[in-house]
Amino acid sequence: MTMTALAYETFNDPSEGAIRLHGEAGFAGMRKAGLLAAQVLDMLTPHVVPDVVTLDLDQMAYDFVRAHNAASATIFYRGFSHSLCISVNHVVCHGIPSARKLKDGDIVNIDVTVVVDGWHGDTSRMYLVGDVPLKARRLVDVTYECLMRGIEMAKPGNTLGDVGHAIQRHAEANRMSVVRDFCGHGLGQIFHDAPNVVHLGKPGRGVTLRPGMFFTIEPMINAGGAAVKLLDDGWTAVTRDRSLSAQFEHSIGITATGAEIFTMSPTGLTAPPYAI
Ligand code: MF3
Ligand code: CO
Ligand code: CO
Repeated sequence: MTMTALAYETFNDPSEGAIRLHGEAGFAGMRKAGLLAAQVLDMLTPHVVPDVVTLDLDQMAYDFVRAHNAASATIFYRGFSHSLCISVNHVVCHGIPSARKLKDGDIVNIDVTVVVDGWHGDTSRMYLVGDVPLKARRLVDVTYECLMRGIEMAKPGNTLGDVGHAIQRHAEANRMSVVRDFCGHGLGQIFHDAPNVVHLGKPGRGVTLRPGMFFTIEPMINAGGAAVKLLDDGWTAVTRDRSLSAQFEHSIGITATGAEIFTMSPTGLTAPPYAI
């Protein structure tokens, strides 16, 4: 989701009036939607190889979602017309599937959002195409660890500042940078809802988490500087310094004791290298 100056103020404002608290029906709905989203990424895994055309990956996802009587949330979303965002190398997010072929050494984020019975499952993972240099693999590993450290902090009584801080600290300890221009978001029966989940912050600041809150955590981490620019297509965000960028995303729900990850891979394909 796009960050505006206003959205950043929301982060500093501890008011949580606008944030929905979901009950058991919501958890049940999100489990189904999250599972299907994870299954899309699982299904794509063996196909993310050198010379595959990214539009073909998009078509596979479209067909898979249709076959499961679900819908793709991103088709017709603000003029986007694909099932997947496919973001290669220095593309930070919202890469548009195209005739482009993946090549040996690429790192690729694939982001999918499905709607099942009205509930949204939103998740993304990184994929390694062929032989990927160590530096790029390290970026991918650190980014996955950033996501999981953020999720560990997502529990009742903690704040979104605690989540953001855990992510920022791990990225910066590894001399990588956190993208400021995009953030995670509340979701449920709405694709992009309150709160904004900023991937940096200070402990104890921001919204206090409560059971029943549903949101994504989706840190974008750059090997170089944090600055991003938008290409002329109006979607593709790239690093200004053309350094590599990585991202992982889960949809989660706050429980009485912690967080439930709705978009966990049912086959253990959590982060690369994927043993398939
Ligand atoms: N799935 C993305 C997210 O994590 C949103 C993509 S919107 C699109 O919020 F239109 F670019 F597909
Ligand atoms: Co999202
Ligand atoms: Co997403």
